[in-house]
Amino acid sequence: MTRDWVYIRELGEHVGETVLLKGWVYQKRSSGKIRFLVLRDGTGFLQCVAGARDVTPEAFEALDKVTAESSVAVRGTVRKDDRAPGGFELGISEFSVIHLAAEYPIQPKDHGVEFLFDHRHLYLRSRTPHAALSVRNEVIQACRDFFYERDFVLIDSPILTPNACEGTSTLFETPYFDQTAYLTQSGQLYLEPACMAFGRVYCFGPTFRAEKSKTRRHLTEFWMIEPEVAFLELSGLLELAEEFVSYVVGRALERCREDLKVLERDTRLLENVVPPFPRLTYGEAAKFLTGPEAQKKMAEAGAPLFTHGSDFGGFDETLLTQQFDRPVMVTHWPAAIKAFYMQPDPQDPGKALCVDVLAPEGYGEIIGGSQRIHDHDLLLARIQEHQLPVSAFQWYLDIRRYGTVPHAGFGMGIERCVTWITGLPHLREAVPYPRQINRLYP
Ligand code: 4AD
Ligand code: MG
Repeated sequence: MTRDWVYIRELGEHVGETVLLKGWVYQKRSSGKIRFLVLRDGTGFLQCVAGARDVTPEAFEALDKVTAESSVAVRGTVRKDDRAPGGFELGISEFSVIHLAAEYPIQPKDHGVEFLFDHRHLYLRSRTPHAALSVRNEVIQACRDFFYERDFVLIDSPILTPNACEGTSTLFETPYFDQTAYLTQSGQLYLEPACMAFGRVYCFGPTFRAEKSKTRRHLTEFWMIEPEVAFLELSGLLELAEEFVSYVVGRALERCREDLKVLERDTRLLENVVPPFPRLTYGEAAKFLTGPEAQKKMAEAGAPLFTHGSDFGGFDETLLTQQFDRPVMVTHWPAAIKAFYMQPDPQDPGKALCVDVLAPEGYGEIIGGSQRIHDHDLLLARIQEHQLPVSAFQWYLDIRRYGTVPHAGFGMGIERCVTWITGLPHLREAVPYPRQINRLYP
């Protein structure tokens, strides 16, 4: 791609030179006969300065009249300036406006969250979303690299499916010619056959849950990365999960320093994220959560009181993870509150060979996974118990008819992971265009 301009990110290679930059006016101020503007071009922010005698009178007037978020072309000399954000400043010699922006709705003041997300198409330009989505980019690339480097094969799973994967209460239904289709809740069921063909596979794509809850941890459309490995059992799955999460966090720390600084993330807490992660059975976790100290804290916070046998609430996860400095892996959950496909523990068939990985600092579940039932008759019985339509699962049962083997996998929600790494308060910050129960626009 040939271009006649340079990017702010590249200025280190152009100190002392005169370069052309193209971008948008982020901020503007003047002081006597000097005009300052902060230019942003997608790769960074740059303070640009012009005195009345540095540019033509027309350009100086244009600098006076230019509005926030106008698109502009600026030519000038790159100066190293350690006090400037980014380390450089531009001495303007030529300035022209490409498009004079109408009055920009997002001002440098505190807007409400709803207002900002109603303007998400513009809000993407602001520093915090820009930093958060840059971390998302790195996290996704790290996920792909992790699996690619380990010889996992990418198998794209379909989005339109004839059946549920994660329970029928959160299914999005859509007409499909003369049938009914559902938006996928997870690619897992399609990965299981693929791991019998390729050994180690993963998928990465959008997944959908008709979540009626309005919590900060739920989106109705989110992206999930899911590995699946033939012959892998629970203990190997736990190792894969901790290695994977540590790798992704490590990459964000290595390559997103500036973005994490913009987000004011305390990265010391992320430096601890290395294997091994603490392992806790559900029984052990439940014992802690039903203990007098934990119950007292729940009561004080007005949170629902945890009872043995139930799923963890947000507050329960926070209490549990507060005891550790890195993610916690909770295994052996009661089968009754988990998905139909999970392999029962041979020592205690009421428990499933599964894992939830809970992030520290109250960020909650980032990974859910399990060993899968590989016995045909047991799986069929589970499908029936869960009142799922057996006919829609014949292809899935086939995997247990032809050379079935133990296998296991997990799914990590990208937005949960990015929210934790960036330290942002809500999952909607971690996705370009959030979809929630009350948000479909823009
Ligand atoms: O625990 P879940 O439901 O597991 C599955 O879907 C498995 N089929 C995955 C597998 O074994 N291949 O979801 C996995 C992860 C959660 O841990 C969470 O990170 C994320 O997906 N997730 C959501 N993220 C945002 N909004 C929601 N409504 C989410 N529901 C799940
Ligand atoms: Mg889960």
